[in-house]
Amino acid sequence: MKRIGFLTSGGDCQSLNATMRGVAKTLYQAYSDVEIYGILEGYKGLIYGNYRLMEPKDFSGILTEGGTIIGTSRQPFKHMRTPDENGLDKVEAMKKNYRKWKLDCLVILGGNGTHKTANLLWEEGCNVVTLPKTIDNDIWGTDITFGFQSAVNIATNAIDCIHTTAASHGRVFIVEVMGHKVGWLTLHAGIAGGADIILLPEIPYDINSVVKALDKRTKEGKRFSILAVAEGAISKEDAALSKKELKAKKKNNPFPSISYQVGQEIQERTGQEVRITVPGHTQRGGEPSPYDRVISSRLGSAAARLIIEGKYGNMVGFRNNEIVPVPLEKVAGKLKMVDPNAAIIQEAKGLGICFGD
Ligand code: F6P
Repeated sequence: MKRIGFLTSGGDCQSLNATMRGVAKTLYQAYSDVEIYGILEGYKGLIYGNYRLMEPKDFSGILTEGGTIIGTSRQPFKHMRTPDENGLDKVEAMKKNYRKWKLDCLVILGGNGTHKTANLLWEEGCNVVTLPKTIDNDIWGTDITFGFQSAVNIATNAIDCIHTTAASHGRVFIVEVMGHKVGWLTLHAGIAGGADIILLPEIPYDINSVVKALDKRTKEGKRFSILAVAEGAISKEDAALSKKELKAKKKNNPFPSISYQVGQEIQERTGQEVRITVPGHTQRGGEPSPYDRVISSRLGSAAARLIIEGKYGNMVGFRNNEIVPVPLEKVAGKLKMVDPNAAIIQEAKGLGICFGD
């Protein structure tokens, strides 16, 4: 008898169910006696002992279903070693439930924070295999995370829709794209949507360069401009501040997000009418794209293979078109950022896209 615990943690994305289906189907094919414990609401379920015994039928019909059938929650890694309000040691509680349920392995689907806790559990003696989930595509050790392409589709669609109205009105439009501290989603959606200006956290912007690019377009007779702005975009001025100084500055910042600040500056400096669109969590919702369904099924199947072969302590990564195991200790605590000198940036610049640098 094999007993495997499934756990989805952190912000959701479109392809979590497709990935779990990939793992489950492969396990059911390989073993005649496998029990899957659906650990509810991420690490919370592992801490407090909440699970649902899954059946093969639970994994049918979910390939196209967004969200996660076992729920998720954010349990910040930095608080994992802090006892809960009743004094419960969370790490000990997780280990206890792992042993109580006689699990052979935990399959953990999550992003950066999730991977830190997964690595901790592995170091504490639990067998763990992880899968790289996030629309942000910022997990170290894999070229692609599942959820990313689906989110690119949605953010691109938002820019596409803005295009027609921007053209009619002759305005400047800003579309603010998710991605936390990295710019992958904005970069890809920005290029795919034909944005004129793309602002990323990895390339701090100078508002003068942005204004210059807008003026150039006006002189060329272009009636509208579209900016794809990452939620984590930052000005050169702010990027030069220390963490403490930036925190203090943000306290007095009247803008709900960076796009509103950029928008006001553009309006004041150019006199052009500016509108802002924030697609927000729609970028994480709905069904997975066909690309994500394929990559999720492949990664899921490969994760099951690692379990079958007893190769624990790994994330299933996708590098140079190959699925590879990546040791958890290498993944945990690192962020995969956009390289400002990468070919894709140079090519985008070649197309005339301004990055505000
Ligand atoms: O990590 C995925 C993500 O959607 C980020 O792009 C975004 O910054 C964050 O999660 C939003 O988190 P929450 O859903 O907790 O508001």
